[in-house]
Amino acid sequence: MVRETVVTPADLVMPLFIHPGKNRTEPIKAMPGISRITADLAAKECVELHRLGIPAVLLFGIPASKDTKGSGAWDKNGVVQNAVRAIKKEVPGMVVATDVCLCEYTSHGHCGVVQKDKVLNDPTLDLLAKMAISHAQAGADIVAPSDMMDGRVGFLRKKLDSAGFIDTSILAYSAKYASAFYGPFRDAADSAPAFGDRATYQMDPANAREALREVRLDIEEGADMVMVKPALAYLDIIRRIRDSFDVPLAAYNVSGEYSMVKAAGSQKLLDEKRTTLEVLTSIKRAGADIIITYHAKEAAAWLTR
Ligand code: PBG
Repeated sequence: MVRETVVTPADLVMPLFIHPGKNRTEPIKAMPGISRITADLAAKECVELHRLGIPAVLLFGIPASKDTKGSGAWDKNGVVQNAVRAIKKEVPGMVVATDVCLCEYTSHGHCGVVQKDKVLNDPTLDLLAKMAISHAQAGADIVAPSDMMDGRVGFLRKKLDSAGFIDTSILAYSAKYASAFYGPFRDAADSAPAFGDRATYQMDPANAREALREVRLDIEEGADMVMVKPALAYLDIIRRIRDSFDVPLAAYNVSGEYSMVKAAGSQKLLDEKRTTLEVLTSIKRAGADIIITYHAKEAAAWLTR
């Protein structure tokens, strides 16, 4: 009766890793319980997620081959594009969000165009726009740029609008930190940078004011929703953004945060169910409206039982 924060399945978004082919599942070693799946299996999975009350999925693609520009990212029949169509056909009510970033598609693993070991901001924007439009064409409801190039939200909004996709929403990874907690994801997506790191475009974990500035700029450029990522080491950032802005706020409970709980749970160092629900509750209590989490399916089952 007096509980202030209640997490429900409707707060959760389940990320899915899509690889090419049909009826193929490949467990991700660094993320116990999570697998790379094909478009047909993603559609099936969405039937189950929808039944559990999870309103949305966030898709990541692992293409058959990568190149220096990441051209698989805007392929009409690319992994994510095919999965969006399959999911929308099978479960029209499922909200489909797509990650817009080149690092899963580039051979060097960086999130943008690379020239002489430097990631170039502006030339990257054109490629991100091609990618976002191809996702919208396939039927994505939300595009979520995670590249952290400057000016990309305004650029994508303009390009989506002029291509006729005025209703496609933008969920901006606004305050995305250069975090060690993405380690397991890079294993999942085979996207670790081949040289250097992402510190020239992702944020310094020491900065909080900068997060507010990034969020303000993204909202001014047309973001419908903003995000803080990772979540747990950044609960103060979630709270500050919640107190300063009124757009829907998402928090990404990232791969490393998930794998820590799974590893400790499997070794019986922690009670996995209680820990998971406590983590999700703390993220919501900090001010997130939407929690993107690999725990979504399991947690939704626990929460509705
Ligand atoms: C792509 C992207 C990453 C994640 C989401 N989108 C990896 C990165 O920036 O290195 C991480 C998600 C996770 O760790 O769960 N740029």
